Amino acid sequence: MIEDLLPAGVAYAEAFDDHSAVTLFPEEEAVIARAVDKRRREFSTVRYCARQAMKSLGLPETPVLPGERGAPQWPAGVVGSMTHCAGYRAATLAYARDIVTIGIDAEPDEPLPDGVLEAIALPSETSVHGRLLFSAKESVYKAWFPLARVFLDFSEAELSFGDGTFSARILVPGPVSGFTGRWLIRDGFVLTSIVVPVA
Ligand SMILES: CC(C)(COP(=O)(O)OP(=O)(O)OC[C@H]1O[C@@H](n2cnc3c(N)ncnc32)[C@H](O)[C@@H]1OP(=O)(O)O)[C@@H](O)C(=O)NCCC(=O)NCCS
Repeated sequence: MIEDLLPAGVAYAEAFDDHSAVTLFPEEEAVIARAVDKRRREFSTVRYCARQAMKSLGLPETPVLPGERGAPQWPAGVVGSMTHCAGYRAATLAYARDIVTIGIDAEPDEPLPDGVLEAIALPSETSVHGRLLFSAKESVYKAWFPLARVFLDFSEAELSFGDGTFSARILVPGPVSGFTGRWLIRDGFVLTSIVVPVA
């Protein structure tokens, strides 16, 4: 499913069920040593996906550890993004010589909990499908953070949506002034992606 949102050159893998026997590296085990089962399963399966994407890029399998503010640490010369929600996990990876940054996000296609839309939407965004807006903002953050290394609030990007596409205008100074992305809603999931090619 995620491949429909990705250009050539981006390796990906996705899973709709958890893999029962994922072998984690000891450094990864240490990260989730005290995690509840749900977190352990999403962490492990999305890393299984990341390993598959590494293999398709011809890279050796290496640990994927959370770095600054939780951003995944990729091997040198590689950029990527991961997401997990109930019933879905995906990892995307590309060479930095081809792609500047990636952000992907998956959400269940369900109404947002009460109060969330009001918390994340700018006035111009309130008529958008709430889950789609939320997912697209998460993709913006995941694409933004590896470049900017500073937090970006929900109020600091203004999004507008087209047919399967969206644009984000970044409202604070930083390394980029905006992103374009793609979205789909299928089989009970909302998926969004941002992939910035090297100019
Ligand atoms: C970090 C955040 C984006 C994760 O999104 P989510 O929908 O909760 O969860 P997902 O399952 O889709 O994504 C989790 C993955 O995101 C990645 N991630 C976490 N922090 C990240 C960061 N700072 N930068 C890039 N990727 C990050 C990790 O790979 C993580 O998986 P892992 O913990 O197994 O390694 C979200 O929790 C958050 O903090 N949002 C606030 C900031 C924001 O969204 N601003 C909007 C700007 S318009």
